[in-house]
Amino acid sequence: MNKLSVRKIMKVVISLGGFFFANAESIKKVAEVLKELARSYNLYIVTGGGETARECIKIARDLGANETTCDYIGIDLTRVNAKLLISALKDAVYPEPFCDYKEVAEAKAEVKGEGEEAKIAVIGGVSPGYTTDAVAAILAEYVDANLFIDVTSVDGVYDADPRIYPDARKYDKLTAKELVVLTSREELKAGSRIVIDPVAAKIIERSGIKTIVIDGSDPRNILDAVHGKHRGTEIL
Ligand code: UTP
Repeated sequence: MNKLSVRKIMKVVISLGGFFFANAESIKKVAEVLKELARSYNLYIVTGGGETARECIKIARDLGANETTCDYIGIDLTRVNAKLLISALKDAVYPEPFCDYKEVAEAKAEVKGEGEEAKIAVIGGVSPGYTTDAVAAILAEYVDANLFIDVTSVDGVYDADPRIYPDARKYDKLTAKELVVLTSREELKAGSRIVIDPVAAKIIERSGIKTIVIDGSDPRNILDAVHGKHRGTEIL
């Protein structure tokens, strides 16, 4: 098997933080990067809900909605963002967001022909109780991905939220066990602002999937991360 065909079958799951979906320019930029990657890798993209999801969740909570209802509202918004990304990816992608892990795996399994391009699969939220980080980690485990990249609005995992604590310490490397301990302090309410949710950390720990957390302010960082160069946090 030549080098190109080995790279072709490498499966990469990418979780895109909701901040990517704030405007058309930002979506176009990340879509260009994903199209470039899809020429050489089998891509699975998970879309976050971002500020719009948080705002809607806050309104629902103020109206007395319970946390599961708020989670479902968040899920709806992640699926809207999935549709926005699909609009930008055009022919390179399955035309509708997936809502379930098995559907994604089955659609991808249908691509068998030599030289046939595996389309990009886009999925939003799946079920209440966690965030799209956990969706991405579960999907990565389910499809036996080679790599999981969590693209966030901070440049890695810190010992405290760097947006609140300027002296927070960033980890270049972290074991999955350490990540589980660190994230177990987090509150898992609908719309919480956390870099990696505790469910995702547990799945990363049990699956052993190679995971990298990077900053997405320049979407080309995703290309670097796939090629083994990054300045984020690697989960060992
Ligand atoms: P996100 O995945 O966008 O949350 O889901 P996040 O990762 O904290 O935020 P960003 O987008 O990266 O900034 C938004 C909300 O939707 C619900 C949760 O309430 C979550 O906080 N959600 C999402 C679920 O309940 N289940 C899912 O599978 C996905």
